[in-house]
Amino acid sequence: MNRVLVLGGSIRAKASNRGMILEMASEVSDVAEYQDVVRERLSSTVLCNSEIIAGAALVGARLSGVHVDYFPLCHLFPQKDRRLFDLMVEGDDSALAQLDTLDIDEDALNELLAALDASQGVVLATPVYFGDRSSVANKFLQLATVRERVLNKVYGVVSVGAKRNGGQETCNIFSLYEMLHQGTFGVGNGMPTSQYGGTAVGGDLGKVVADEWGLATALGTGERVGQVSRMVTKGLQSPVEAKTNVVFLLAMDTKAGKLKTHIDSLIAEAGSTLDGVEFSAINLVEHDIYRCLGCKSCPRDGDTECDHPQCIIRNPDDYLETARGKLLGADGVIVCGINPSDIGDLVTRYQVFTERMRSVRRNNYELSNTLFAGLCYHDFSATINPIHSLKVMVSYIRHNTVMHKPIELFEYDGALLDSGAKGVAGFCEAASILAAGKTQVDIPKTTYRAYGEGGGYAQDESSQD
Ligand SMILES: Cc1cc2nc3c(=O)[nH]c(=O)nc-3n(C[C@H](O)[C@H](O)[C@H](O)COP(=O)(O)O)c2cc1C
Repeated sequence: MNRVLVLGGSIRAKASNRGMILEMASEVSDVAEYQDVVRERLSSTVLCNSEIIAGAALVGARLSGVHVDYFPLCHLFPQKDRRLFDLMVEGDDSALAQLDTLDIDEDALNELLAALDASQGVVLATPVYFGDRSSVANKFLQLATVRERVLNKVYGVVSVGAKRNGGQETCNIFSLYEMLHQGTFGVGNGMPTSQYGGTAVGGDLGKVVADEWGLATALGTGERVGQVSRMVTKGLQSPVEAKTNVVFLLAMDTKAGKLKTHIDSLIAEAGSTLDGVEFSAINLVEHDIYRCLGCKSCPRDGDTECDHPQCIIRNPDDYLETARGKLLGADGVIVCGINPSDIGDLVTRYQVFTERMRSVRRNNYELSNTLFAGLCYHDFSATINPIHSLKVMVSYIRHNTVMHKPIELFEYDGALLDSGAKGVAGFCEAASILAAGKTQVDIPKTTYRAYGEGGGYAQDESSQD
């Protein structure tokens, strides 16, 4: 059976709490029950907030049908005074000073590596420090031995900050994006919000237990990592014969069509070397796409034939429906952009297309578990569109998709430094793994529900989400 490893990223976590956190997560089947168990423990013991959100992620992973494991990253650091190891008791912050945070304990590192090797999914549970992960959590991402071992693992992140909007999302997005570059499959928190992982609020030790919504996002992240890791494992074990459909979605171009010319040659090159892949392209630049009206009934119960008098989906001049049809048949989608030196040279449909994808999301997450990545053709040092691939991850993960490593191309002095063929080949391999796995793992269907102002669980009809 698959295993998901949850990593605790707080310096306030206790190595001696490992068993307790796993035990708490093994007893419950939803957020309310988990809160009860944590509250009971808090009456007699100290738990930091990251330990609590880690536990919620463990619950979610367990419910997705995988084994779970937990490792507090502070355990990597040796104790200056071993006798103080278990003296990190209630309120005794002074014991933390006994951690030698500059060195790594080799035994603990080997323990972490063994746990990592035994896992197909990883969730990082970290406090938010200045809108980013803690330095303890960062250690995990920076260890070269760790980086070599995460290829084809599924990665998600949950974070807790003292404030609402304290940087939980930036924290999550940073490590998600960085881990894509290490060959992981990146996922968010799934339903109901499909954002960037767990985002919880809690300042003083244990306070996050009150944040039902934040704990639900952490649970959702664990569940999502568990589900997708089952697909990836199946896909690796039992590939299928069917061809993998990979779509290049050209969301912008230069007036002279520089991106299209390059994508055409990439498709020709990749098509001749990658037997099992069927390539196609959607060139949005050649079509009109109307702006999203933010209509609250869009689309109606999966029926895109909405009777709203102004429904742009039905407008024959609007290209969204045609593009949607092509995307629904894809196993993988590469959203291509360009970063030219001259803004006057840019023709873009990216933003308007991305906002119109709201109807696809609201149509019960039609693109769930499709592999996505950004590709950007940069003029060296151009500043018009420098973060295209990051934007692609942020917007398209909200469709409950799975994200993969971006492909960045740089032209310098008229010469393209790398064609991107290797990146495309890596993407195609990942898309075929996921496509094969999807057919072999039974995952509950996702039903769209709008969530907006209010933050509660009840459906809010006026939601713009
Ligand atoms: C150095 C430092 C930086 C922090 N930066 C932020 C921040 O940017 N946003 C935020 O909401 N909370 C911030 N916090 C608060 C912690 O994220 C918060 O207390 C968290 O619950 C701690 O998790 P823990 O109990 O697992 O250690 C910061 C705390 C520290 C110590």
